[in-house]
Amino acid sequence: MLQITEKQVQDSITMDMALPVLRNAYKDCMKGEIYAGDRIFMPLRGQENVGQWLVANCTNKPYFGSKFSSVFPENVKKGLPSVISKVSLYSAVTGEIQGLIDANFLTAIKTGGSAAIATDLMAKKDANKLGIIGSGLQAFSQVLAIQEVRNITELYVYDIIPERVDSFIKQIEAIKNNPYKIIAAMTAEECVTQSDIVCTCTTSLTPVFKGSSVKPGTHINAIGSFTPFMQEIDEETVLKSDKVITEHLEGLWDAAGDVLIPYEKDLITKDKVNGTVGDVLTGMISGRENDQEITLYESVGSCVLDIALSIAIYEKFKK
Ligand SMILES: NC(=O)c1ccc[n+]([C@@H]2O[C@H](COP(=O)([O-])OP(=O)(O)OC[C@H]3O[C@@H](n4cnc5c(N)ncnc54)[C@H](O)[C@@H]3O)[C@@H](O)[C@H]2O)c1
Repeated sequence: MLQITEKQVQDSITMDMALPVLRNAYKDCMKGEIYAGDRIFMPLRGQENVGQWLVANCTNKPYFGSKFSSVFPENVKKGLPSVISKVSLYSAVTGEIQGLIDANFLTAIKTGGSAAIATDLMAKKDANKLGIIGSGLQAFSQVLAIQEVRNITELYVYDIIPERVDSFIKQIEAIKNNPYKIIAAMTAEECVTQSDIVCTCTTSLTPVFKGSSVKPGTHINAIGSFTPFMQEIDEETVLKSDKVITEHLEGLWDAAGDVLIPYEKDLITKDKVNGTVGDVLTGMISGRENDQEITLYESVGSCVLDIALSIAIYEKFKK
């Protein structure tokens, strides 16, 4: 069995390499060549800490696999990552374990990459102002990925812990692909009103901005809410979104409080969600149709993407 460490993953994976792997995974998934099973989700010591088990199987490659993630939001105060993930990759021929891959960075690259694919499909072509709420690892990977699909001129960042914004700005200065301005926003609302693309990447259990702040033409990537009781974006934002897409419909209706909470209040029906990134990518449904539409990519994670990226990394090391 090959063990691949966090450092090896970080040294071997770039956004350039990840984006085509993720796009192909969405297309393969549409053909049934890779699919996810049901997720298992377990609150641990109260609602804040959660364990999550995800699985996926390939029919076009000799692998299946699983990812375990734990989310402990208070870890940031201890200097630890709040999301800790590991992928196990198995042979579909013998069932033996082939690879055990540290997957914190892999998860971030997958999450950012998928949001960039959604942004490319849904955001206005000339969208160039990016607003990021939250300043952890997922926030970092959103910027890393989205700068690949739009020509960013201004980046607004907000976090409830201002010191985290200072170090985040230093991190982004080191990886930005053009000399865009980076602005520490005073409020989440400032991020939203100033931006064409908004990413929410927080561990918040309650909405981080008011839907009334969202202007026509905005594209939102809602990344943080991944349990039925987490609501990172409010009901007004969901209601005023003209198009809503996700990675995986079953996963969304199992886990995403952002849509489950308004659904349970009878404010929306399941038709509110138009389909998946794969549906738009393969032309099954339309993406943005005019510059006024508000579009929402509601992300809950999909093991299809984790396993596709893990296979690409594993095969690189196996050579
Ligand atoms: N959609 C997916 O596929 C996916 C994948 C990985 C992680 N996640 C989720 O994304 C979230 C962020 O993950 P991370 O690894 O970046 O975590 P992190 O703990 O490193 O960063 C979260 C940041 O959010 C900030 N924050 C919390 N509440 C806030 C609020 N109300 N307003 C502004 N900032 C606030 C915190 O101060 C922290 O800096 C987590 O909930 C995680 O479970 C989703």
